[in-house]
Amino acid sequence: MSKIKCGNNVYIPMPVVLVGTEIEGRANFMTVGWASRANANPPMISVGINKKHKTPEGILNNKTFSINIPNAGMAVPTDYCGLVSGSKADKSGVFDTFYGELKGAPMISECPVTMECELVETVELPTNYLFIGEIKGVYADEDCTEKNRPDMKKADAMVLTMTDNRYWRLGEFVDKAWGCGKDYSNKDIYE
Ligand SMILES: Cc1cc2nc3c(=O)[nH]c(=O)nc-3n(C[C@H](O)[C@H](O)[C@H](O)COP(=O)(O)O)c2cc1C
Repeated sequence: MSKIKCGNNVYIPMPVVLVGTEIEGRANFMTVGWASRANANPPMISVGINKKHKTPEGILNNKTFSINIPNAGMAVPTDYCGLVSGSKADKSGVFDTFYGELKGAPMISECPVTMECELVETVELPTNYLFIGEIKGVYADEDCTEKNRPDMKKADAMVLTMTDNRYWRLGEFVDKAWGCGKDYSNKDIYE
């Protein structure tokens, strides 16, 4: 197979989350695709957020934030929070909110899975902050859990692809991670 060089942008499939903060006493939510697990123990998550957005103000002031996983039925309000800045519009009424144990980290009631995070480190990059937060609590709708843990298929979580800028549902189950590799024998098994 011949390869084509496709520039140098980031083309990995991404999660779709809403980052929640409290700014001037009001909840604000922004859509984020650049979110990743950052540390195993204690569990930490990182989000890459442009310095021009309103959200950094809330995270830097409160030292907390929330991560909310919308379901596919929430694509429209999720996209709205990624199109409109809290510096231009009040996004506090887009969703119902609830709080866990941390101040300044409003979570979205409609989201099947949410987590509250304490800011542990801020890495300043040329255009973005990389905020690293320790997850202090995870909350999930009962019918979106399996053995007391969030189940992403039941939660109907979305995946984001760039640069075609599309939201997708999770697709078909392929095989067990940390499992199917045990069947490795040689290169012939690649599809
Ligand atoms: C699908 C989607 C994903 C996005 N992901 C990010 C991201 O990872 N980082 C970022 O800085 N902006 C991202 N944005 C843009 C912000 O969500 C957008 O500029 C938002 O209005 C910022 O809100 P705020 O100013 O209230 O913080 C994304 C937008 C969309 C629609």
